Amino acid sequence: MMEADTANDARATPDAELAKIVADPQSVQAGAWLAGVLRHNPRAVVSDVADPRGVPDPNSDVPIPDWPFAPGDGRSRQVLEALARAGLLERVGAEAFCASSAGRPILAALPLYHARNREGYEAAWAEFVDTVAGRRVLDAGCGVGAGTRWLVELGARHVVALDHSAERLGVARRLAPCAGRSASFVRASVECLPLQDGCVDRIFSRVVLPYVNHRRSLSEFARVLAPGGLAMLILHAPSFYLRSLLRIRPTVAGVREAAYSVFGLLGGAALERLGREPRWRSSRRGFHLAYERRGTMARLVEQCGMELVRWVPAGTKPIACLRKGA
Ligand SMILES: C[S@@+](CC[C@H](N)C(=O)[O-])C[C@H]1O[C@@H](n2cnc3c(N)ncnc32)[C@H](O)[C@@H]1O
Repeated sequence: MMEADTANDARATPDAELAKIVADPQSVQAGAWLAGVLRHNPRAVVSDVADPRGVPDPNSDVPIPDWPFAPGDGRSRQVLEALARAGLLERVGAEAFCASSAGRPILAALPLYHARNREGYEAAWAEFVDTVAGRRVLDAGCGVGAGTRWLVELGARHVVALDHSAERLGVARRLAPCAGRSASFVRASVECLPLQDGCVDRIFSRVVLPYVNHRRSLSEFARVLAPGGLAMLILHAPSFYLRSLLRIRPTVAGVREAAYSVFGLLGGAALERLGREPRWRSSRRGFHLAYERRGTMARLVEQCGMELVRWVPAGTKPIACLRKGA
C-alpha cells in the first residue's frame, strides 16, 4: 500500500502523486475498479465503496478488478484522497468524489496497467522477456503505455513508445515513465517508422498488427531491428472476432462492434487465402483489420527478412516470436 506521507506534503505535484499511484499495485487496482464504474456511469459519485466487486465491461476483454480493500477499511479513503491529489478525482462534497475531466482518460487506462503483468509473456517467450534489460526497445503502437511501463520495469535501457494517436500518447507520457529510466514518446505510424536502420534490439507490439498493413509494418520492424534482434507480436486469432460476434448486443455500439468483427474475419481471410490486405472505409477513415495465423505470419515474416521462431496460440491473442538474422 502506498505510503500516506504525501497527504501532508504540500510540495507534491499532481504528477508526483500520479507517479506514486502507478507505482503502487493497490492504487492501480483501485483506479481500474473506478474505470469499470465510470464506463457504466460516467457521472458516478463515489463516497463509500459499498460494493467492492468490479463491474465487467462486455465491450472489453480487459478485466476490471475488484476494489482492493474490504468495506470499512480506512485505506479506501486514503486511495481516493491520493487520486484526488493527482487530479484524477474531484471533490463533490466533504466525503464524495467524481472523476475530473482530465482524470477520465487516465483512469480509463488503469485496467490495462492492472492487467499488464498477467498475460504470461515470460512463459510464452522467456528469451525475449529475460533479455529486455539493458536493451533498446520499441513499443510499436504503445497505446496508453501499459506495455511501455512493463518494458521500462524490466530494465530496458531506452524504450521508444510509438503510436499514431496523440490522445493515447498523452496518457502514456503521464503514466509510463519511471524515475531514473528512459522512455521517449513518438507520434508516428508503424508503417513508416521515423527510426534509423538497426537502432533497436527488441520490438514489443501488442495487438497493433491486426489494425495495420502487415507487409509495410513487418518490413519496417525488420529494418529498424539490429541484426539478431527479437520481436514479440501479440495478434488476433480468428476466435477474437468470432467471440465478439457471438456476444453481439442489440445496441448501436453492439452492431458497430459486430460489423468490425466481420471486417476482421474478411480481412484475415483475404490475407491468408489471397495474400491481399484490403483497406476498409468507415464514415471517418480508412482502416485495416485482420486476424493472423501461424502459416500466414511465417510467410510474411520470411518475406521481410526475419524468421518466425515460435508461435504461441494463447487463446484469442496468439503470440508471434520473431528473430532477425545476425
Ligand atoms: C488495441 S490498441 C493496443 C495498444 C497497446 N499496444 C496495448 O496493448 O495496450 C492498438 C493501438 O495501435 C495504435 N495504432 C493503430 N494503427 C497504428 C499505426 N498505423 N501506427 C501506430 N499506431 C497505430 C492505436 O492508436 C492503438 O493505440
